[in-house]
Amino acid sequence: MVTRRKFILVKQFDHAPKESDLKIVEEKLPSLKKGEFLCEAVYLSVDPYMRAYIHKLPVGSPMNGRQVARIVESKSDEFQIGKYVVGNFDWQTHTVSSKGGVGSPYIVPNLGDLPLSLSLGVLGMPGNTAYFSFVNICKPKAGETIVVSGAAGAVGNIVGQVAKMKGCKVIGITGSDQKGKYLTETLGFDSYVNYKLGYFEEELKKAAPLGIDCYFDNVAGEISVTVMKHMNMFGRICNCGSISSYNTDVNHPPKVSPVQLYMLLKQLFMEGFQASQYVDRIFESMNQHMLWIQEGKLKYIETITEGFENTGKAFIEMLEGKNLGKAIVKV
Ligand SMILES: NC(=O)c1ccc[n+]([C@@H]2O[C@H](COP(=O)([O-])OP(=O)(O)OC[C@H]3O[C@@H](n4cnc5c(N)ncnc54)[C@H](OP(=O)(O)O)[C@@H]3O)[C@@H](O)[C@H]2O)c1
Repeated sequence: MVTRRKFILVKQFDHAPKESDLKIVEEKLPSLKKGEFLCEAVYLSVDPYMRAYIHKLPVGSPMNGRQVARIVESKSDEFQIGKYVVGNFDWQTHTVSSKGGVGSPYIVPNLGDLPLSLSLGVLGMPGNTAYFSFVNICKPKAGETIVVSGAAGAVGNIVGQVAKMKGCKVIGITGSDQKGKYLTETLGFDSYVNYKLGYFEEELKKAAPLGIDCYFDNVAGEISVTVMKHMNMFGRICNCGSISSYNTDVNHPPKVSPVQLYMLLKQLFMEGFQASQYVDRIFESMNQHMLWIQEGKLKYIETITEGFENTGKAFIEMLEGKNLGKAIVKV
């Protein structure tokens, strides 16, 4: 009988999560029924949404998240031993699932020489998010100025690179000069603005002297208000995330300056995006991103933390901005 380890919530997060809010428990797994398989986690994903939605979970709930796992036992014709699957299997070492069952698993296709962990990043949900949101909502045109916030993270770095492929001028907003330099020197962004320095608006104006045509928003709050203030007529905004508010009390969200004046004066367009609408189209973005990587047009970047027991730490560090690219845990 297999024993699995899994993280559960033992205390609701109060602002920034703490490792002591989580605990690892052990459970025995039943033997497999016909059509089921048992898989063992290889890589876990830690993502901002796990902080944003946690208030909906009662204490004792498992921590939710995707993982890449290897099938180690199987009574399924399709999900055979040795294959790798991606599933929404929570932060746990072993999962029993089936076709269309727990965690909606899918088999990872042949990735060639690419690392398996990319199935949680550029070839996974964040890649799918970037692929279906930016171009459809922002409708970027060559020569336009694009600003991406959360630019050095899993979704943002892909969006910025796609904007460069579209012939745009790309400005990344990030929280450190080290990350900013990575964006400009390695990923080809035109410039970056470090929002943690005191003169954010001045730096943004310098980086975008002709104003901003598209804004890909991962963070919300005053950063986004400032960007919207400097947008051009008929500018387009993709509302992808609002991480600046995730650590606040849901009943007392942060108060920010109103954006309505900028929206109406510039006749801006803003649309929210939900990755959940596109889960069935994961192979479209995966194939395109694999091709771009092979052609040298798209680079991937990950920050990998070793050890299942360090998943909580990796999650907290991602929220603190310690990751460059996709934050992953190697089990
Ligand atoms: N709508 C959807 O379907 C969907 C899907 C996936 C992700 N998202 C959203 O997209 C955003 C990025 O997700 P991701 O997975 O790519 O995460 P990520 O960018 O890889 O990691 C989070 C990053 O957010 C930045 N950050 C943390 N606190 C911040 C603050 N107060 N203000 C500004 N930036 C802050 C940090 O970078 P710095 O060092 O630069 O501060 C950190 O590295 C999140 O808001 C997430 O919820 C939405």
